[in-house]
Amino acid sequence: MPNAITVKNFSYSYPDGTDALSDISLAIEHGEKVGLIGPNGAGKSTILLAINMFIKGTGLIEVDGIEAVQKNARNIRTVINSVLQDPDEQLFMPTLYDDVAFGPLNMGLSNEDVDKRTIDALSKVGLGGMEKKMPHHISAGQKRAAAIATVLSMEPKVITMDEPDTSLDPANRKKLIGLLSSLDQTLVIATCSMNFAADLCKRVILVDGGKIIADGPAEKIMTDTQLMESHGLEVPMRYYRRPADQ
Ligand SMILES: Nc1ncnc2c1ncn2[C@@H]1O[C@H](COP(=O)(O)OP(=O)(O)O)[C@@H](O)[C@H]1O
Ligand SMILES: [Mg+2]
Repeated sequence: MPNAITVKNFSYSYPDGTDALSDISLAIEHGEKVGLIGPNGAGKSTILLAINMFIKGTGLIEVDGIEAVQKNARNIRTVINSVLQDPDEQLFMPTLYDDVAFGPLNMGLSNEDVDKRTIDALSKVGLGGMEKKMPHHISAGQKRAAAIATVLSMEPKVITMDEPDTSLDPANRKKLIGLLSSLDQTLVIATCSMNFAADLCKRVILVDGGKIIADGPAEKIMTDTQLMESHGLEVPMRYYRRPADQ
């Protein structure tokens, strides 16, 4: 089976000349839940944009073994999908139902399949029964859940999420971790919240200055206080050992 994601020697500069990514390589297997961690401006979002083919740089990117080049764009879009940083960008229809049905409808599925996928996706994220709600009349946590449902309904193998824990209270954050943990899909999650990454991901990739600094077990990387602090990050609560425990 091919990797879910393969990136080899990929570099990208924004049109204004900012070098956002320099020669990064990584491989993610199907079913992994990987945290892309790093301080603000590290290059996390840019990595997600690149693997979703929203930007074009130099080097190789493959998604489920398909090379991310223009001629394969349609194919790639059936395999990978992204939950955007701002749910308001993802929710633009009059009702939650319409938003979640939008993807499956565009895939040309039958009305019956679209309906099934839409109802299933909304119930999976805890919004069952809220089909007729207007997206701008729900809470931040519910918007986040709805944005995830718009992606789940397309049943992609790989899902990327950019800072999905933003503006969630602790209870909703916990709910989101439960939901994401229960998904079978490959998840690549960019976050600057170390607690969120540690609670969800067994593996993290530490990015800073457009480079991959470390890639491996969360427990190993995130307990390295010196490494974490030298990149402006903190050891998450889960791994924090009080002096008395040592
Ligand atoms: N649209 C853009 N135009 C120019 N530079 C950008 C743009 N978006 C991001 N950058 C720059 O690219 C670098 C990486 O940014 P980004 O991937 O957004 O980091 P992160 O998601 O880790 O906070 C930063 O230096 C940032 O300022
Ligand atoms: Mg970002």
